[in-house]
Amino acid sequence: MSDAPILLVADDDPAVRQSLERMLAREGYAVVLAPDGQAALDRLRAGGIDLVLSDLRMPGLTGIELLREVKAISPEMDVVLLSAFGTVEEAVQAMKDGAVDFLTKPFQRAQLIRIVRKALERRQLITENKALQQRLDDLLSQGAIIGVSPAFRRMMRLVDQVANSSATVLVHGESGTGKELVARAIHERSPRRAGPFVAVNCAALPEALLESELFGYEKGAFTGAATRKEGRFELADGGTLFLDEVADLSPVTQPKILRVLQEGEFERVGGTKTIRADVRIVAASNQELAGLVKEKRFREDLYYRLNVIAITAPPLRERREDVTVLAQHFLRVYAAKNNRKLDGLSDDALGCLEAYDWPGNVRELENVIERAVVLARGAAVEVSDLPDSIAERPVMLDRTSPEEGTPDSAGGTDGFFRIRVGTSLAEVEARLLEETLRLTKGNKTLAAKMLGIDPKTVFRKLKAGEADEGGAEAPPGPPDPAGPAR
Ligand SMILES: Nc1ncnc2c1ncn2[C@@H]1O[C@H](COP(=O)(O)OP(=O)(O)OP(=O)(O)O)[C@@H](O)[C@H]1O
Ligand SMILES: [Mg+2]
Repeated sequence: MSDAPILLVADDDPAVRQSLERMLAREGYAVVLAPDGQAALDRLRAGGIDLVLSDLRMPGLTGIELLREVKAISPEMDVVLLSAFGTVEEAVQAMKDGAVDFLTKPFQRAQLIRIVRKALERRQLITENKALQQRLDDLLSQGAIIGVSPAFRRMMRLVDQVANSSATVLVHGESGTGKELVARAIHERSPRRAGPFVAVNCAALPEALLESELFGYEKGAFTGAATRKEGRFELADGGTLFLDEVADLSPVTQPKILRVLQEGEFERVGGTKTIRADVRIVAASNQELAGLVKEKRFREDLYYRLNVIAITAPPLRERREDVTVLAQHFLRVYAAKNNRKLDGLSDDALGCLEAYDWPGNVRELENVIERAVVLARGAAVEVSDLPDSIAERPVMLDRTSPEEGTPDSAGGTDGFFRIRVGTSLAEVEARLLEETLRLTKGNKTLAAKMLGIDPKTVFRKLKAGEADEGGAEAPPGPPDPAGPAR
């Protein structure tokens, strides 16, 4: 080990200091000595110490006082207290005050080494745990971009294609579809990946603030501008600038952005010097910019400058294949974050997620999973851990096998009915038609409307159903078209 842990030893007795130094140095530790509590504190503030060993009774600061000071300066620093007159009460008090261990003099070398090793291991574990947590946070915030659906793959193919150029990209998509992740993905796959990725939310700031944020300002440009400040365009030099929510750019700011896009130059607020920045722009909007251009709320010339390449982040309901992989991804991330051991999601829970429409898209799914991870009591996320709006499904899947299962329940009076998994589509269709007609009390036009099909189709299907009737095994036929619901 090249970096030996550094131990700080505080004791007023030079003989004890020497003997501790000898024992610890033989184990390969670096040892720093302090003759009293104050000297120990001064050394500690200079940094680099991994563990403190302190005598309990010293002139000036006592060991306990030193311990409290240490914890105030750096709560994570571990302190082992040593005492020649160790009493149980003293040891208990020391531990209460946050000492990791307590050692009574005279002690065996082996005893000392064991305690030091244990304290350092504990510290190591805490550090590693922190690093893992950080990695996890990074994973989540920078975001691995995940998906398997054809729509997602098409989008990522486009991302790969445009990454190599410096062309401006406009990312469209509903809220929560992952537009910012797309922008980051473009940056990370581009030759600019070593440069900065700088994001600005154009909707978050009032006009004047946004301009000084984007272009920076000179000292004295306005009250409060005590120093010069670089804007995001400058900060993004050599990298990518992500302009989020561009639809919200004011009519005053729009031409200024246009100028940077066209000429690559601008001035700081209150400044006259023209500044050039080599920046690739990725813009995003959850409103259709083309529509805003028609309404004259967005400059046409700026629109064309931004929209050199258009990428659409599809809503989650149009790529349901991604729901499962995203749910599992978020489950792993949030289970680790919350220190929960969860194997996955139950089939029924996944079924609910897949059937839901996700108006808030991936962000909503992420929130639902985070909540479920916190609520889950078992080894997997269950339907009961999901919000009611998602747990309720219009069609319930019956997964019991035909042998053990109960026969199909009678048609629901509450708009629900059960279908056993493995039922043929034809039968499901017949059943659905029958139940819909039951609901509409035999009104075929209304049933057709609810099913989203032509009334003629309903008539045709009913005819076909009647023709099939006769076999004892056949599903129950539709009700008498003339009569009321059974
Ligand atoms: N394909 C994906 N894989 C993993 N995480 C995703 C994916 N898409 C979105 N997310 C996550 O969903 C959340 C919302 O994504 P993001 O902020 O990029 O959406 P957005 O389209 O910019 O939304 P808004 O319009 O509301 O700003 C983020 O936490 C992001 O990490
Ligand atoms: Mg966003």
